[in-house]
Amino acid sequence: DAGHYDTGGYEHYLLKEINEQPETVARTLRGRIDDRFHIAHLGGLNLTPHETRAFRRVKIIGCGSAYYSGQIGAQLIEELARIPADAEPASEFRYRNPVVEHDTLYVAISQSGETYDTLAAVQELKRKGGRVLGIVNTVGSAIARECDGGIYLHAGPEVSVASTKAFTSTAVAFALLALHFGRVHDLSPADGRRICEGLRRLPEQIREILGREEEIAALARKYADRPSMMFVGRVRGYPVAREGAQKLKEVSYVHAEAYPASELKHGPLALIGPDMPTVAVVPDDELLDKNLTTLGEIRARGGQVLMVGHRMAEAKLADDCIVVPKNEVELDPILLTIPLQLFAYHAAVALGRDVDKPRNLAKSVTVE
Ligand code: G6P
Repeated sequence: DAGHYDTGGYEHYLLKEINEQPETVARTLRGRIDDRFHIAHLGGLNLTPHETRAFRRVKIIGCGSAYYSGQIGAQLIEELARIPADAEPASEFRYRNPVVEHDTLYVAISQSGETYDTLAAVQELKRKGGRVLGIVNTVGSAIARECDGGIYLHAGPEVSVASTKAFTSTAVAFALLALHFGRVHDLSPADGRRICEGLRRLPEQIREILGREEEIAALARKYADRPSMMFVGRVRGYPVAREGAQKLKEVSYVHAEAYPASELKHGPLALIGPDMPTVAVVPDDELLDKNLTTLGEIRARGGQVLMVGHRMAEAKLADDCIVVPKNEVELDPILLTIPLQLFAYHAAVALGRDVDKPRNLAKSVTVE
């Protein structure tokens, strides 16, 4: 039930929510960036600087797209704060009787705040004395109430089953959290400033990507009739590839697999051929050359490549290319995700799918 929230003139909630992202990202950032000290103000964490410094590890849990945004979050925390961090599906975590450590900070992610597996994982953590933060969109939801503190996304209601604006806002919230942790650890004021400035550029850069919707829609229509697609990325590009594959399969029912680009040769390369095009996430970072080599390996086996990246000069190495604006390397995954949302949306529309309510799926899975 969307209540007063309607599609606002868009054909689907999904398209509306994709297009809201300049504003929703701005709302997640609002009042939280301190340009004087290049720090983040996150009033809801309920952690003293002393407690913040005492954590030796960060463990992130969530389900579905929340889990993939957590993988971006783990990378941000490791890169900016140099604290070991990783993400795991909440449903796996809760069933494997995890070792709960007093010097680990747990972070639960949920748009709805009601996902049962995530809630049960948080309850298990609390039972074992774990300190849990929530990165949650819905104020006052069950997961938000259960956590010791956290960050609200302020992204507004998300209606379409496939998550978009909550995903980007979660990644932005993690950037703020990583900045906060970084600045109580070793992140320099200069790097803090670099990240603050990068965060402020995001809404405008997202708007720029949204302005290229027609170009992306044409590519979606070109590839939508394929039975299957491969998504690849390395390190920062890998969670983007996973979320891109997730969006495509959820809303278009096209089979999609995501792999770290480096793992292709350990199995999935056997699938590559004319029937299996690849979406390659290729940020302009220290792994660019490795990624370009992968594109060559795919094309040498007759696979088409749609590259999503930053450098026009490399576009000739792919069959098709979507160039997105460049931000700081740590923040690039947020922007690289946007064209893949539009790609999935337009593939689903081209195939006549029930975009906002894909078969077999629920917006919020409140059962086991
Ligand atoms: C369902 C939705 C996904 C969402 C996941 C986690 O599977 O279809 O879009 O990512 O639940 O939801 P949450 O509300 O906990 O973020």
